[in-house]
Amino acid sequence: MNSPRHFISLLDLTSAEIRTLIQRAIELKNTRHPDFQPLKGQVLGMIFEKSSTRTRISFEAGMTNFGGSAIFLSPRDTQLGRGEPIKDSAKVISSMVDAIMLRTNDHATVTEFAKYSSVPVINGLTDLLHPCQLLADMQTYFEHRGDIQGKTVTWIGDGNNMCHSYINAAIQLDFNLQIASPNGYLPDADIVNSAGSRVQLFSSAKQAANGADLIATDVWASMGQEHEQQLREQAFKDYQVTQEVMDNANANALFMHCLPAHRGEEVAAEVIDGQQSVIYDEAENRLHAQKALLELLMCT
Ligand code: CP
Ligand code: NVA
Repeated sequence: MNSPRHFISLLDLTSAEIRTLIQRAIELKNTRHPDFQPLKGQVLGMIFEKSSTRTRISFEAGMTNFGGSAIFLSPRDTQLGRGEPIKDSAKVISSMVDAIMLRTNDHATVTEFAKYSSVPVINGLTDLLHPCQLLADMQTYFEHRGDIQGKTVTWIGDGNNMCHSYINAAIQLDFNLQIASPNGYLPDADIVNSAGSRVQLFSSAKQAANGADLIATDVWASMGQEHEQQLREQAFKDYQVTQEVMDNANANALFMHCLPAHRGEEVAAEVIDGQQSVIYDEAENRLHAQKALLELLMCT
């Protein structure tokens, strides 16, 4: 049996595959056809250790659109949450479904699961990476502004899973990434170094925004860090994406946020609800980009 193709990181695809996937996502969005059911009878298992609105709904709706179905699995009511080994869970679950999506705390859970899975495994967010979100973000940029190659993207805020996936996207799609994070909340040094001169670190949000074609941010406290909220409010207080920060970017710069957002914390309401914000296209594109991903992993 051939080993399955996984999507744990953007680096699991080639640059050409990511570009083709983005074009396919745009095509699927513009030509919805109820008779096109490439995944008829196929099942996606979805394991969520953390909450989700967009990821759960987009994968479930995508499978249904394609003629298949999805099963929502929570550790709270499966044996996973009672400590059944990942190896046994992966072997058993993958013997019954055609692909598996996992959202876990620890990145190693997804890589361990993929090691023993006989079907494709998709990373639906870990503490390290959120690659599915980047497929949607990149689709959104391509739709609004064309190819992102050679453009400048600014990441403001936590050096978290989203920031790491932006770094991987910079490598794969060849754009410059200017990151402004407070001390103590910088992205992983190895991931930064892997991007070479494409990534530059700044301590000031305004400086990082200079020349930007896209500004993106995320919550100050991610899922599982809620107890650090007050500490983080202090550390990140100079890292809000304000209109002043947006005004330092190029005139046609876009604003993105993976959502959920906290208006008045990482982003000012006038920015996220303003003319430059494309957050709702970005959220909708989770559906289209992941349908293109499911097609790539499950139909070829
Ligand atoms: N952006 C994102 O992954 O949203 P959910 O947590 O709602 O899935
Ligand atoms: N960084 C956030 C992203 C949510 C989609 C988190 O991990 O909670």
